[in-house]
Formats: sequence, structure tokens, C-alpha cells
Amino acid sequence: MQIHVYQNEAEIARAAAALFASLIIKKPDAVIGLATGSTPISTYQELIRLYKDKVVDYARVTSFNLDEYVGLPPTHTQSYRAFMQEQLFDHINIQDTHVPSGIAKDLAAECKRYDQAIVDRGGIDLQLLGIGHNGHIGFNEPNDVFVYNTNVVDLTESTIQANKRNFDSEDQVPRTAVSMGIGSIMQARAIVLIALGKGKAEAIKRTIKGEIDPQMPASILRCHHNVTVLLDKEAASLL
Ligand code: GLP
Repeated sequence: MQIHVYQNEAEIARAAAALFASLIIKKPDAVIGLATGSTPISTYQELIRLYKDKVVDYARVTSFNLDEYVGLPPTHTQSYRAFMQEQLFDHINIQDTHVPSGIAKDLAAECKRYDQAIVDRGGIDLQLLGIGHNGHIGFNEPNDVFVYNTNVVDLTESTIQANKRNFDSEDQVPRTAVSMGIGSIMQARAIVLIALGKGKAEAIKRTIKGEIDPQMPASILRCHHNVTVLLDKEAASLL
């Protein structure tokens, strides 16, 4: 695990975007894994800037997102598909983008289909991750076991509380989501995890210094051979 601490979010965005840019310049048909939440937004702005400056061409890139809320159609403003369109896809020339469906009739089949689609495209070269306050990655919540494949998860109360800021009221926050599993994430050839702010400091401390424990899902990343962790000073403050 390589851990880098930066002065501010803008520096982190440039560092994260540089990792994606160098991959795509070397491998124009790269497969990238993307995340939602407030954390990656500045990185996406940087990736858009690199496109507009003609540094990076996304025409042959494929993307897979980590997760989607169950019950929200892609047209719903709080769906992760809508988030990705707004924050990144609508501003660059990427064509092949994948977000799990939260409205599939058979969600178990959708989970299988999603894992297979990743395999069919050769696996993920570089996966971007944020982290929940409770250490979740994607929507893999604290659990007794690390769940391997893409799966339907029950969101914890802390996640619902954290994510309600994006909805008109708490009762509109979906209680379940489709999420890439821990195994799907760990199969990525490289991973970059970003954490910003004091609110993430405890989860980062437990991820990096605590036990490898499914109750702290991000701790599994210590078993991966190529993880870069980008932190601001606040997120790194308990290390
Ligand atoms: C959601 C997403 C995660 C994200 C987390 C943190 O739960 N499923 O992928 O890492 O939120 O969000 P934020 O970056 O807004 O703190």
C-alpha cells in the first residue's frame, strides 16, 4: 500500500487523474472502475480538463461503476447513473459505460451479469474508490464476512444518514443497493483510494493500521499488491 498525504483536495485530484491519464495514454482501451460520492468529483473535473486539453482520449475506454441504488431508474436525479452522466460522462468522449441496474426485475441475475461483463472486457485495470465513514467500499457494508461477488446489500443506518443529504427527505433514501463485491474490487489490477476530511480519519486509521476485518471492509485492501491511498491532512490525521 502506498500512502500519500497532500495539502488539499486539488492536489489529490491532480494526482488521481494523473494515474488514470497515464494508464489510458499507455492503454487506450483501458477498463476503469469508477465511484460516486462527493470525494471523486474533483478528480472527475480534472479528467474532464485533461480531455478538453486533448491530453486524454476516452473514445476506447470502458468504465464500470461500483454500485447503484435499488429502485432508482437511471433517469432519477439521485441515481448513480445520473450522477456519473452529470459529473463525468456527459463531458468526455467515453462510449462504453456500465453502472449496475437497480431496477432489474431479477437483481440476482443482474449481479451475475455485471460480474460477467467485467470479466468479458478483460477485468478492471484501475479502480477508483472512496470510503464510507464506517469503512465501506462500494456499498460493501461492515459484515461478518467479505462478500466476493456483486451483490444486493442492505445499507446501514450510518450510510443512510450520510447519504440523505442528497435526497429531499430521509425516507426517500433507498435501503438497498447493488454493489460490486469485495472480490470484484480486489480483482482490479490497481486501486486508488481517496479520502478527504476529518470525518474519514477514523476509517482510514482502522483501514491502514487495524486488523483486516470484514467489519472494516476497506481493510481488505491491505491484501492487494497495488493500492495507492491519497489522503488530505485531515483524513490522515490519526495515522
Ligand atoms: C457512497 C458510495 C461509496 C462512497 C461513499 C462515500 O456510499 N457508495 O462508493 O465511497 O458514499 O461518499 P463521499 O465521498 O460522499 O463521502
